[in-house]
Amino acid sequence: RGGRLLVVGALNVDMVVAASRLPGPGETVVGADLQRHGGGKGGNAAVAAVRSGTDVRYVGAVGPDEFGVAALAELRAEGIDVSDVVIKEGSATGAALIVVDPFGENQIAVAAGANAVVGARDVRAAIERASGWPGCVLVSTEISAAAVVEAVEAATAQGWLCVLNPAPVAPGIQELLKLAPIITPNQGELRDLYQLLGEPGDPPAEKMAAAVASHTRAPVVVTLGADGVLLCGADGVSTRIPAWPARRVVDTTGAGDTFNGVFAASLAAGTDVAGAARRGVVAAALSVESAGARTGMPSAATIDAVLATTERRAGT
Ligand code: RIB
Ligand code: NA
Repeated sequence: RGGRLLVVGALNVDMVVAASRLPGPGETVVGADLQRHGGGKGGNAAVAAVRSGTDVRYVGAVGPDEFGVAALAELRAEGIDVSDVVIKEGSATGAALIVVDPFGENQIAVAAGANAVVGARDVRAAIERASGWPGCVLVSTEISAAAVVEAVEAATAQGWLCVLNPAPVAPGIQELLKLAPIITPNQGELRDLYQLLGEPGDPPAEKMAAAVASHTRAPVVVTLGADGVLLCGADGVSTRIPAWPARRVVDTTGAGDTFNGVFAASLAAGTDVAGAARRGVVAAALSVESAGARTGMPSAATIDAVLATTERRAGT
């Protein structure tokens, strides 16, 4: 494969209870043993990207605690360069409390901790150190707004391709759209963006994606879960990429992060937007077959093997 990708985003430790269903307000549900997994949208995407065959540097922050040591050790073990990670005195490493039901659906509450205090200066320093290194940066919005803005602005100034995963859609993000990032919302985030841009009504996803693309003048890639991906070109014309059917759905946590990591890594390696999205869709489907956000994330060889089968079946 090849390519170099800088990932800016959150790093968490995920504490997971697999229960018979998700709890309602005021309700207690009971599962078996507590499971601990690596998490955070930035950390997850970085792992998906490196497994898919691209060199990755991760930029973010942890607290001076055991969770932080463990979270960084996990990224290092994957071969990710974490030398730009800042240790924030007085903050805790990000943690997520997750309940997963038998259908793989989840409910997540995040204690942002150090992710909320990643500063513009931290990001700027990392991007300056990486000058000339990557071709592409992936930014997700689970970190401070200042860090997100700095990442998109500084990466654009360097002339890097920028993928912005608006998860969640934070106010102020519309200012970044004119910098022409490739934006990768899910359906709910697409609607949030559309409304934030002051566009009227609640039209179909194609229409909303075209409206967003008219602001970014770049492709808009909408992840639709089990329905695959809607790819809207800079010209506002949409095509659909069907999902690769997962054989069993164990845990959908991090499926979007897997898509984003592999999509951005593939762009960094020189694949076109549609080809990169196809790789991301396959990786995301494989990721939901195992517990935790990262366990099921595939290698480049596995992604390629699955894609080859699909293409043989389609007779292309
Ligand atoms: O997208 C999934 C991730 O969201 C989890 O790993 C959790 O840490 C939260 O950030
Ligand atoms: Na999973």
